[in-house]
Amino acid sequence: MCGIVAYLGDKQAYPILINGLRRLEYRGYDSAGVALLNEGALTIHKCQGKVSDLEAHVNGHGHQGTLGIGHTRWATHGPPNDINAHPHQSTSGDLALIHNGIIENYAPIKEELRSRGHVFHSDTDTEVLVHLIDDIQRSEGTDLAESVRLALESVVGAYAIVVLDRKNPDMMVAARKSSPLVIGIGEGGEHFIASDATPIVEHTRNVVYLEDGEIAVIDRQHGLKIRNIKNQVKTPFIQELELHLEALEKGGYEHFMLKEIHEQPRSIRDSLRGRLNTATGEVVLGGIKDYEQKFVQAKRILIVGCGTSWHAGLVGEYLFEELARIPVEVEYASEFRYRNPIIHEDDIVIAISQSGETADTLAAIELAKGRGATIIGICNVVGSSIARVTHAGSYTHAGPEIGVASTKAFTAQVTVLTLMALMIGHKRGTISGGRFHALLNELDAIPAKVEAVLRNEAQIKYIADIYKDSTNALYLGRGFSFPVALEGALKLKEISYVHAEGYPAAEMKHGPIALIDEEMPVFVIATKGPSYEKVVSNIQEVKARKGKVIAIVTEGDTVVQGLADHVIPIPETPEPLMPLLSVIPFQLISYHIAVMRGCNVDQPRNLAKSVTVE
Ligand code: AGP
Repeated sequence: MCGIVAYLGDKQAYPILINGLRRLEYRGYDSAGVALLNEGALTIHKCQGKVSDLEAHVNGHGHQGTLGIGHTRWATHGPPNDINAHPHQSTSGDLALIHNGIIENYAPIKEELRSRGHVFHSDTDTEVLVHLIDDIQRSEGTDLAESVRLALESVVGAYAIVVLDRKNPDMMVAARKSSPLVIGIGEGGEHFIASDATPIVEHTRNVVYLEDGEIAVIDRQHGLKIRNIKNQVKTPFIQELELHLEALEKGGYEHFMLKEIHEQPRSIRDSLRGRLNTATGEVVLGGIKDYEQKFVQAKRILIVGCGTSWHAGLVGEYLFEELARIPVEVEYASEFRYRNPIIHEDDIVIAISQSGETADTLAAIELAKGRGATIIGICNVVGSSIARVTHAGSYTHAGPEIGVASTKAFTAQVTVLTLMALMIGHKRGTISGGRFHALLNELDAIPAKVEAVLRNEAQIKYIADIYKDSTNALYLGRGFSFPVALEGALKLKEISYVHAEGYPAAEMKHGPIALIDEEMPVFVIATKGPSYEKVVSNIQEVKARKGKVIAIVTEGDTVVQGLADHVIPIPETPEPLMPLLSVIPFQLISYHIAVMRGCNVDQPRNLAKSVTVE
């Protein structure tokens, strides 16, 4: 979603802003803009399209200044066009503002400001902020920081903002509520602000994460000062970034998504490291240690998430039921938050989110927390909002995921859920010692088996080429493989724009079977396991209607080989661990089909990497 970058220092801001906006492209956006302050003049450039379009628009003119703000917009209020792009400017022309989030009560504020002579140009909710701050500055005679604070007192919604004032050429003011902001502290008094650390890491490793309700004032003379919305002084907590620049580069791959698919042996290993000890037969999850007993005694687990994280949660349901014998309910965070869910104080709520910033997941957490449940987070981004609001949690160590389509984050989430379910099951005595140790050893062997699946890429690409022009696809799986079928379908949809549906294989005959004809590719997970024979029957049902079957099978399988149009063999592993392997061919198929169809794999249309609005 929208991205923010800002700079104040002694270097030229424009190249830093443009480079920063490029780093933020992965979040998904449809327009971009910058504002620069130079010798008392405020210059704004903005346009619909990509950062490269913005550069062409600027075309080497009016880009001077050592103080500036930049923004990538993902449209919510009003279509993507030049006028709705940020920064927005006050009627006086003095202020420029960029904003991530949504101002819910923008309509009455806009009406009031209009009646006071402010002229609005855009359809955005954001524009009210810049006029409101300007109005307060003029009517109250307050300085920029205090005007921002007073303005935010009357605002309902989520925001991360940065404001410049032509009359204060040595200052920028930033504030956040429910939308993240990071401040980088560089050499010689230079400061950076960004919506995540990606535009900052190449300049400095020293950062301050702004907390909800805080307002940061950065000026050349006094550096960084933080207050909260109640005007209390806060001491900035400077941390060292864990992010490394190489993680933000493609490293020789054509796309980030392909790089991230191939990183999975490493990311799964990193998510296991220090937690799984096959020698001692132990699973240690330090981040949830204090809540381990509550977890062991839980009568129920609720899992909340969205999209791919919700799919990982479904795998978690099968894992906890099978290994720990605890009832589990998996909820779309967006539905959960608006129901009146029954939540008990002895419930464990697991919130899963790669970005740690998904608005609906955050709201679901707040709801469950308010009703006394214990919230355990599974997040990939260190220091993210979800990581901070949960009682405890375990990070997935997947490293930054830049491709909008989640790949390595999914397998890392499933890895952490597997560790949790094994540990809790072992402590509850619901899994025998023999099975526990066998599964630990099998889990330890997963990264090498993922490598083996990845070695099959040429064959998977060959299959992708055959089905690249299909307009529909069906994905089927049973048991632990059902969530993988959903995930496979989601991957194809989001990056190839091919309509795809995931189903439990047995559900096919309750409706989707009507879709099957000789044009329809049906991707089936038919690995060895308790429902193998049933899945073989489902394949026969598809073949009887002339559907094309592409089956993921266990190495050495000959039965499905004889039935399916294509088989993709993967190494044998126990059923609870199978999602970690069976999802890989689906990721690769989607990737190659998308590339062959000429789609923008890393930044698919309309999608955002972290969905910070509900
Ligand atoms: C997955 O490929 C999607 N990009 C999307 O479904 C994503 O998983 C969802 O928006 C949740 O994001 P989160 O994990 O950052 O909370």
